[in-house]
Amino acid sequence: MCGIVGYVGNKAARDVLVSGLKRLEYRGYDSAGIATLDSGEAHLVRSVGKIAELSKKLTKTPCDGNLGIGHTRWATHGGVTETNAHPHHVGRIYLVHNGIIENYKELKAELKNNFASDTDTEVLAALINSYYKDKISLKDAVSKALKRVRGTYGIAVFSPDEPGTLIVARLGSPLIIGVGKNETLIASDASALLGYTREAIYLNDGEIAACTANNVEVFSLNLEHIDSQPETIEGNIEQIQKGGYEHFLLKEIMEQSTTLHNTLSGRINSKTGKMHLGGPNLTEEEMRNIHHVVIVGCGTAYYAGLLASYYMERLVPDLTTEVVVASEYRYRSFHLPKDSVALIVSQSGETADTLACLREIKKRGVKTLGIVNVVGSTIAREVDGGTYVHAGPEISVASTKAFTAQVTAMILFAGMLAEYHGGDPKLIAEFTHELSILPDEIEKTLQNNHDKIKTLAKKYAKHEHALYLGRDTAFPIALEGALKLKEISYIHAEGYASGELKHGPIALIDDRFFEVFTILDDWLFDKACGGLHEVRARGGKTIVLTNSKKDIEADDVVRIDSPIKLLAPILLNTLQQLFAYYVAIARGNDVDQPRNLAKSVTVE
Ligand code: AGP
Repeated sequence: MCGIVGYVGNKAARDVLVSGLKRLEYRGYDSAGIATLDSGEAHLVRSVGKIAELSKKLTKTPCDGNLGIGHTRWATHGGVTETNAHPHHVGRIYLVHNGIIENYKELKAELKNNFASDTDTEVLAALINSYYKDKISLKDAVSKALKRVRGTYGIAVFSPDEPGTLIVARLGSPLIIGVGKNETLIASDASALLGYTREAIYLNDGEIAACTANNVEVFSLNLEHIDSQPETIEGNIEQIQKGGYEHFLLKEIMEQSTTLHNTLSGRINSKTGKMHLGGPNLTEEEMRNIHHVVIVGCGTAYYAGLLASYYMERLVPDLTTEVVVASEYRYRSFHLPKDSVALIVSQSGETADTLACLREIKKRGVKTLGIVNVVGSTIAREVDGGTYVHAGPEISVASTKAFTAQVTAMILFAGMLAEYHGGDPKLIAEFTHELSILPDEIEKTLQNNHDKIKTLAKKYAKHEHALYLGRDTAFPIALEGALKLKEISYIHAEGYASGELKHGPIALIDDRFFEVFTILDDWLFDKACGGLHEVRARGGKTIVLTNSKKDIEADDVVRIDSPIKLLAPILLNTLQQLFAYYVAIARGNDVDQPRNLAKSVTVE
């Protein structure tokens, strides 16, 4: 959940580390720090808060040298203090760590050091140092220490006694090595390498690497040599910049028509009305034998799976679906029928709970297909097949364009599957047609309703409580709308199936709350309006998002005018994203880096 960087080469390590940390700041922004080595002397500078605070401090404190490590923190063990910030220094060891050392208390008791911080990481530094004292190489000391560790880690380590060398290792947390010209870079994800090199080695779990400016050697934890070839990383600097928008979140909401073109590119044939995905890697027979789909994800990825499951059941006549929350499913004694396939949904491709489910499902011999955005991520590398959703880098912690791309990719999978299961060709063609016009309809919906949503957001921004409500495909949209609002505006928001109102939630309706209804122009229109009437009867303040032209009584109605029917929930959700953005802005929040959150949850 933290971001780590490292550098060895001929540039000033301080500058490379700080620019890398800025790119990884969305992974955690409680505190930051760097340590460099200059002619045998190490420098360590840490600060509480964002990288900007660290940069300020670095203007006053020298931190020279061509080798160094850096860290931006999402606190797990120990409060947000400078002492708990990374890098940690014990004896001859300087270390940064992303992950959790679960048995740190036992190790701490055994080491009997005077620990300066409350962190698990300092214990790991002390453990490495305890072995390093025995005049063995840094690589050997790190290997010995890691064999004693239970938990997850991505680490980078140096010692003044081995100038020019960085030792890195991973288990459960992502770690990439950028191979440059006379320089080597380390990062938790590829965005920190852009602009320096396009050649990268993706370290696998249980691997250690010794890095110098001109060489990278990869080993197993037992120090057996492993032949690792660099791969070319995708993406460019422009993609990870704001492109003239004030915030990444607004950019990522407003660029969805473009990113969705990339998701759909080469995957729909408007002439034949068919959908096709290359990546699942399934034979025709395997496609025909699939009768159960389990969809796994966390947060927004889970809600994308939930919405997609409604469409899958409509498209594929003899298919059953289940959608599961990864953090629960990983510890359940679940059984999957033989004719199952699992869709592993993750924007980052690094979410620990989702990854654990993937491994549990593979153990049961069930095929796993990734619905992933980040290219080269761990989940993408471990699934049996799958699809990149090509939404481009998603920097803002609140996931928006990835949601739209994930739902779309799962509809494409269902559309392809339907061909092998006697799906209704007319319905398949209808979905294909709507997908083909969806990018332009998203653009139209956002442009036509932008100002109205902005005004509405200002009107409701003072509330501390909200309910989001929807029926059928609008139910997952209600859950997603509530998540977006709570995670960036800090308003307590809950999503509910409208039909559940009478079973409890309606008791909440009073002046403190406002209610957002997503009401679709479909066969459940009247039922959906039923919930609205019940809430208005109790004085609720109601906003309705709809694609219906029919009369609707509410405090505020936002109507979209689009030929899209089946996929209208995806369109209306973009307005929920915009609403949450402007409510958070009106409340003066940091919309790209909301408090207590991080973009990629690599710990349990
Ligand atoms: C969504 O806005 C949040 N950032 C969070 O719920 C996120 O969807 C969840 O952590 C899953 O992340 P993933 O898609 O990268 O696996």
